Amino acid sequence: MGMISAEAEKKIQEIIARYPVKRSALLPVLFVVQQELGYLPDEALEEVARWLDLTFLDVATTVSFYTMFHRRPIGRYHIQICRNVSCYLCGSEAIREHLERRLGIRCGETTADGRFTLSEVECIGACSWAPAMQINFTFYHHLTPERVDEILRSLP
Ligand code: FES
Repeated sequence: MGMISAEAEKKIQEIIARYPVKRSALLPVLFVVQQELGYLPDEALEEVARWLDLTFLDVATTVSFYTMFHRRPIGRYHIQICRNVSCYLCGSEAIREHLERRLGIRCGETTADGRFTLSEVECIGACSWAPAMQINFTFYHHLTPERVDEILRSLP
């Protein structure tokens, strides 16, 4: 695929070769493509479908199921606030509102400078430390508005 590097394509072919059935490689292949492009445009899904003998729809519906896959470009920092029961009961709504005010965007949006994308997600597995959020691959818990400000300030 012209969109991705030869190195990523090699990695993808290695992943596909690990599975007896090509379609089983779908999630790890999507992950590599997204790492490479930052998101998953239609063109990339079509290519993945070709590689794995799937239809575009097979790939697109899988992608739409997982909040970790992005169909549009996202910010450098993707803030995902958990809205599930434990976090909700421990004040995740106030944390979301605080973040929306601080960043000047609503959930689902990206700041004009491309630095932050804000999303609400289901349980991220940190219920005992609610309320929790994830920024890219780092978890933050026991959140308060003050702690959120501290975290935002600490990001390079
Ligand atoms: S409910 Fe928020 S991490 Fe599980």
